[in-house]
Amino acid sequence: MPLREQEVPRNDAGLAQGLSAPARLEALPGVAIERVAETGSTQSDLLERHAGPGAPPLHGAVLRVAGRQTQGRGRHGRRWLGESGAALTFSFARVVARADLGALSLAVGVTLAEALAARFAAGAPRLALKWPNDLVLLDAPAPAAHWRKLGGILIETSSAPGGRLVVVGVGLNVGAPPEGVAEQATGCVAEGWPGADPETVLAVLAPALAAALQAFEAQGFDAAWRARYARLDALEGVALVAGSVRGVGAGIAADGSLRLRTEDGEIVAVASGEVRVRAGSAAPTEAAA
Ligand code: BTN
Repeated sequence: MPLREQEVPRNDAGLAQGLSAPARLEALPGVAIERVAETGSTQSDLLERHAGPGAPPLHGAVLRVAGRQTQGRGRHGRRWLGESGAALTFSFARVVARADLGALSLAVGVTLAEALAARFAAGAPRLALKWPNDLVLLDAPAPAAHWRKLGGILIETSSAPGGRLVVVGVGLNVGAPPEGVAEQATGCVAEGWPGADPETVLAVLAPALAAALQAFEAQGFDAAWRARYARLDALEGVALVAGSVRGVGAGIAADGSLRLRTEDGEIVAVASGEVRVRAGSAAPTEAAA
């Protein structure tokens, strides 16, 4: 007999866990699904096709999934590596009829983190978000703050008839990369969701992402999104440095900026750039984040 909602076991974040997942995504209403064995970058593919000069307007949405990327791109111009078979790499594009998209990346992070956490086993490391939207496994909460990154989100936009074309790129370590391949301390989905494979994870994340874009388009980054982010915030209470600002993570502002409480008790909001854990605190530096 299926469990009623209140009987579904919950993990540390209060999220339902252990839900069964479909094995493969076969269809998603209004979304064209493309699977390729290899490409340079799913993100570049969709941007070139739908935002390039003379590109025809995109109707509906498109999901492009690659078994392997040879030129995967990360945030801040970094490259993104993903081991074939152990990683999930995809981009999802659609036009969003909304101008204020600054906090969309946080809403996407919340959506993916919650969808994965709901499949995590009891006792697994907690899934959390490092501002703005890195998916991390939290080995120790603040102030010790130790985490390992298991996935990242890259959002790029372009003007389009009826709104903005939004391309959401997601890269996730699903299985553990082979020994010696990872460039830094990493985590993977299988640590919390044993037996997870890229197709199963895609089948869970893609519908959640499609629904999140719809919700964000309708309501923006409202108080409900911010409350959900707060439950996943890995930086709350952690000693940080962001550019010239030094302070302790104090949640996020209404526009998705990161709030830091300085030594003087002042709250400073940081809208962009790199955030590092402050050297000399008990936490790892950015290299392990
Ligand atoms: C980050 O730097 O944390 C974001 C990484 C986003 C990588 C994904 S993988 C699928 C899509 N294609 C790319 O080239 N990048 C994004």
